[in-house]
Amino acid sequence: MTIQWFPGHMTRAKRQIQDKLKLIDVVFELIDARLPQSSRNPMIDEIVGPKPRLVLLNKADLADPEANAKWLGWFRSFGLEALAIDANSGSGVKEIPGRTKALLSDKIERQIAKGMKPRAPRVLIVGIPNVGKSTLINKLAGRSAAITGDRPGVTKGQQWIRAGGDLELLDTPGILWPKFEDLEVGFKLAATGAIKEQVLPIEEVACHTLRWLAAEYGGALSERYGLSDIPPSLPDVAAAAAVLEEIGRKRGCLAGGGHIDYEKAAGVLLRDLRSGKLGRITLESPIV
Ligand code: G4P
Repeated sequence: MTIQWFPGHMTRAKRQIQDKLKLIDVVFELIDARLPQSSRNPMIDEIVGPKPRLVLLNKADLADPEANAKWLGWFRSFGLEALAIDANSGSGVKEIPGRTKALLSDKIERQIAKGMKPRAPRVLIVGIPNVGKSTLINKLAGRSAAITGDRPGVTKGQQWIRAGGDLELLDTPGILWPKFEDLEVGFKLAATGAIKEQVLPIEEVACHTLRWLAAEYGGALSERYGLSDIPPSLPDVAAAAAVLEEIGRKRGCLAGGGHIDYEKAAGVLLRDLRSGKLGRITLESPIV
């Protein structure tokens, strides 16, 4: 996956999502629980408008449980319903249909008052690449087959997927783009694997990540790599590079002449971070 960093892309994505909004009752905004701010599209409120929305902090299994709770509170403080889930294992996913119905309760009550039988809520899943949209669709759908959409108000050929009889999902999720102008956001997205390593130099990604890890998860770093205590504040990239060098030395990441291969050391650190070997880590805190 390459990310095309140009505004035309954003405008097209926005238009495509807004076309689909006409077909659905509720949006599931999927974000990465390790990066609840940076993995969002900054235009999301404008794109979704007043359509009911459920924020899903996916990959919560890899994120810090305390931070998950803080972030859920943060979203709720803005009036957004939010849930922490793990689309891979399915943890938290069972709660989604109930929360969706609660979000749509006014609409459902109106339908009942008119003597109508409420239909299954129609859902569009949106999120940045790699956040877990397909995994969630598959998990929600289980074994149920896709149903075709030749019905009133539905674009011909649009596929719907029935999820446990409780929801109808549009089969193609809406793809959003993160706020790519901000380099700090780019480093975090690269650290979690949301954007390809080729986009940013891996050693720089590792050094920026180390500065955050030293401040918040220094113990986990020392333990994993057998390092002596790491100062919580690595004042600059050079200080972080010294820690990366130490990790490289401990892990035998050597280049010619006994020098440390920083690229290899960065690979070790980022693989450990993404696979959860460093523990459950969240790379940003809510700004309160
Ligand atoms: P997308 O449609 O939004 O692009 O994402 P997709 O479902 O393809 O998921 C991207 C990767 O994230 C997949 O890993 C998937 O298994 C993983 N993933 C999705 N949800 C969760 C979750 O809740 N927890 C964890 N731990 N992982 C999750 P992959 O196929 O191995 O791809 P990659 O990691 O090699 O990119």
